[in-house]
Amino acid sequence: MGTRSSLFRLFSGQAVWMGVLSLAGSAALGPTVRVQSRAEIEGFVGSKRCAECHQDIASVQLDSDHARTLRKTEAIDELLKKVPVKFADENNGVQYQLQRSTRPDGKLDLTASKDGRTDKLQLIWGFGTGRKGITFIGRTEEGNFGQSRVSWYQRNGALDLTPGLETVVKDSFDALAEWQTPSQTERCFSCHVTRQPDTRPDQITDEISGVQCERCHGPGRRHVEAVTQRANEPGSAILNPRRMDQRGLIRFCGACHGEPPEESDLSAFSQIVLDRRSIRFPAKRLLLSRCYDESKGQLTCLTCHDPHDNLPKSLSHFDKKCQTCHSSKSLTNSVCPVAEADCASCHMPRDEVVGHLDFVDHWIRKVGKK
Ligand code: HEC
Ligand code: HEC
Ligand code: HEC
Ligand code: HEC
Ligand code: HEC
Ligand code: HEC
Ligand code: HEC
Repeated sequence: MGTRSSLFRLFSGQAVWMGVLSLAGSAALGPTVRVQSRAEIEGFVGSKRCAECHQDIASVQLDSDHARTLRKTEAIDELLKKVPVKFADENNGVQYQLQRSTRPDGKLDLTASKDGRTDKLQLIWGFGTGRKGITFIGRTEEGNFGQSRVSWYQRNGALDLTPGLETVVKDSFDALAEWQTPSQTERCFSCHVTRQPDTRPDQITDEISGVQCERCHGPGRRHVEAVTQRANEPGSAILNPRRMDQRGLIRFCGACHGEPPEESDLSAFSQIVLDRRSIRFPAKRLLLSRCYDESKGQLTCLTCHDPHDNLPKSLSHFDKKCQTCHSSKSLTNSVCPVAEADCASCHMPRDEVVGHLDFVDHWIRKVGKK
């Protein structure tokens, strides 16, 4: 199982969401989704504690898509308002319904009916804020865990098949979900939680669901001690990604957003060029850009993104980021002969990579107007 087979798995995988998974487990690309040790877990203090001193950041971050990317289904108000919703998988002759649950401990159920039989998945967790889509993990009354075979899509405001699970199904049970082992489920959660171990669907609390402070900054106990009790000691004893170099930062965000291959691995780069679906992974695509290659270590994810906040409403927000390098004041970089605004709309076009999910291409280049 060398580089080639892993890459083959990644790029031939039908599922983009599952593609992310095989990526995470791919030895050739390194252990991208680092699992925290027990000792590290002892050091967690929780985001509420961070918020006591860092109110400004916390009020933005804890309400951001990072923090909300994993929610209990009873918290997904926008869906609760719409149910019941139906969807038919005509190829398999399956009728689906997303509906309010009758049980006291949850709020959403998914039923699948085929050939006169109906099965039910009690939905526990919703993955994704709904900015693009929401897919679910739930369990049956018998205690089987699975990823729902249908997901909610923002783009068309309806249910449809989950990418990669558009397979042939034999009965209503088969039609409900992709049934998972506990370790498969844990891996699914790995980029959508703050603390990794103990991530069985029934063990996760609101404190650790979604990407909150200590997922990026590491456990905060020593920091809190340092700034309170040992105030005179130098060093704040917490990771600040700002201090990483260009490559380090891109790998840091890339742990979840698609870790880039080693610079010497040309075959991996050519695969990224060839496979349109890699647009799903900003950290891989950005490295193909001349802006990255020729800006002497300057361009990172933080050049354009505030790691604590959501994307701005308007693309024009990014113009001034481009213009820090591409303006008539620059002696080395070129200036656009075509337009003076909305740079990303032409140079970073959106593309629908899999059904109903579109992504911005971080391979910044001359692509013309789409
Ligand atoms: C008791 C107040 C307090 C709490 C609680 C607290 N911080 Fe801080 N934090 C500070 C102070 C004060 C500084 C500036 C100290 C310095 O730069 O040495 C700081 C600095 C930081 C920095 C910048 C460090 C650097 O060296 O650049 C980060 C990152 C940070 N805190 C994250 C967190 C996170 C994450 C949590 C929760 C796990 C947290 N803080 C909890 C008071 C606090
Ligand atoms: C632990 C995994 C993880 C890490 C590390 C991570 N992200 Fe994310 N990021 C996510 C997930 C999951 C989402 C999807 C949120 C949703 O459901 O819409 C996301 C969404 C985003 C978005 C879209 C925000 C929006 O408005 O919805 C941006 C931009 C982003 N991340 C940038 C970054 C940057 C920059 C870094 C590094 C500083 C980073 N991320 C690190 C997991 C991560
Ligand atoms: C390697 C990290 C990683 C793993 C593992 C992972 N995800 Fe994600 N997931 C992300 C990131 C990053 C995003 C945000 C992508 C974006 O919008 O650019 C995301 C977004 C999503 C979304 C919102 C739709 C979208 O594309 O924005 C859903 C739904 C989702 N993931 C479900 C899952 C499921 C189900 C699993 C398990 C099969 C899973 N994820 C495993 C990193 C991961
Ligand atoms: C997705 C990853 C991510 C998450 C989640 C995250 N941070 Fe950060 N944080 C960063 C990065 C990257 C930087 C460096 C940004 C910069 O300096 O521009 C940073 C910088 C900081 C700083 C230093 C700011 C400064 O001006 O020097 C503090 C304090 C901080 N974060 C606190 C928090 C707190 C509190 C939370 C939770 C409420 C949090 N962060 C969640 C990635 C993250
Ligand atoms: C940190 C500096 C930096 C930033 C920020 C930056 N670029 Fe670049 N970019 C460069 C450099 C350096 C080159 C190569 C020399 C040149 O053509 O100017 C380049 C090249 C380009 C090219 C030519 C690519 C080709 O295929 O020949 C385009 C188009 C471009 N950038 C657009 C953008 C856009 C749009 C943005 C903002 C979304 C942006 N750049 C942000 C540094 C940057
Ligand atoms: C309407 C679409 C469009 C918009 C908007 C746009 N560009 Fe361009 N840009 C192009 C095209 C097409 C080319 C290629 C022109 C050519 O090769 O003759 C180009 C070329 C470039 C180049 C390479 C110039 C060279 O000499 O090689 C850079 C750098 C660039 N654009 C940056 C930007 C920046 C920065 C912005 C925003 C201020 C921007 N572009 C807005 C379409 C656009
Ligand atoms: C030169 C500027 C620039 C850099 C550098 C950059 N991004 Fe982006 N990013 C953008 C723009 C522009 C968008 C589209 C925003 C929108 O549609 O509102 C975007 C969107 C995203 C999204 C949402 C994806 C989607 O398709 O909806 C994620 C996630 C993201 N960036 C992550 C990253 C990560 C991780 C890095 C570093 C590897 C990075 N970005 C570097 C400009 C940049």
